[in-house]
Amino acid sequence: MPRQVPAGAPTDAAPFVPDQRDLAALREAAAACRGCDLHRQATQTVFGDGDQASRVMLVGEQPGDREDIEGEPFVGPAGRLLDRALSEAGIDRREVYVTNAVKHFSWRPAGKRRIHKKPAARQVSACRPWLEAELEAVRPEVVVCLGATAAQSLLGASFRVTRQRGEVIDLDRAVRAVATVHPSSILRAPDESRHQEMAAFVADLRAAARLLDRPNLPNGQESDGPSPK
Ligand code: URA
Repeated sequence: MPRQVPAGAPTDAAPFVPDQRDLAALREAAAACRGCDLHRQATQTVFGDGDQASRVMLVGEQPGDREDIEGEPFVGPAGRLLDRALSEAGIDRREVYVTNAVKHFSWRPAGKRRIHKKPAARQVSACRPWLEAELEAVRPEVVVCLGATAAQSLLGASFRVTRQRGEVIDLDRAVRAVATVHPSSILRAPDESRHQEMAAFVADLRAAARLLDRPNLPNGQESDGPSPK
């Protein structure tokens, strides 16, 4: 059951998040989220997609124009690049859970087009209860933040992808996070560096997947062996 939505304008998504931690219930409730103003100009909520048993969760920024129309994350140009990178890294997209820090498309008009508008910090933090609920439902072992918005939502406002890319951070005892660039930054990269940027992105994804084979030991100890089953 969704929580009772208090009178007055909500300041975040928390009142809309149901107690159940299963993805179907969360997705259904998120469709009615009014936790910030972004729902007003968006077509629909774009919730995460993937298996609840996924060991890896990828977190992007927010849905784009295509995602807003189709209601699924990463199905537009950035999603196609992400699919290619995952495949080059040997990761099956069907085995990862893919979501965004913000669940509604933030945009501004430019003639007849809708142009991506970076979500404001208050919108990112208003949407965080959904991301936390997804983390609780999926319990991934590794979370990959794609770009600054996801990294700052999960790892703190002072996190800088430029300096801390690839650093392994314990979200808690069982969940490790790493941050890399957003795939759309590769789409925007100049021709002469795009290939190199893509190779570095693929290497980051491969390194994140390799964490699955290394148990998270206390005191920062590292192990090369596979996790005990
Ligand atoms: N960019 C994102 O961050 N997420 C999407 O779902 C699509 C583009």
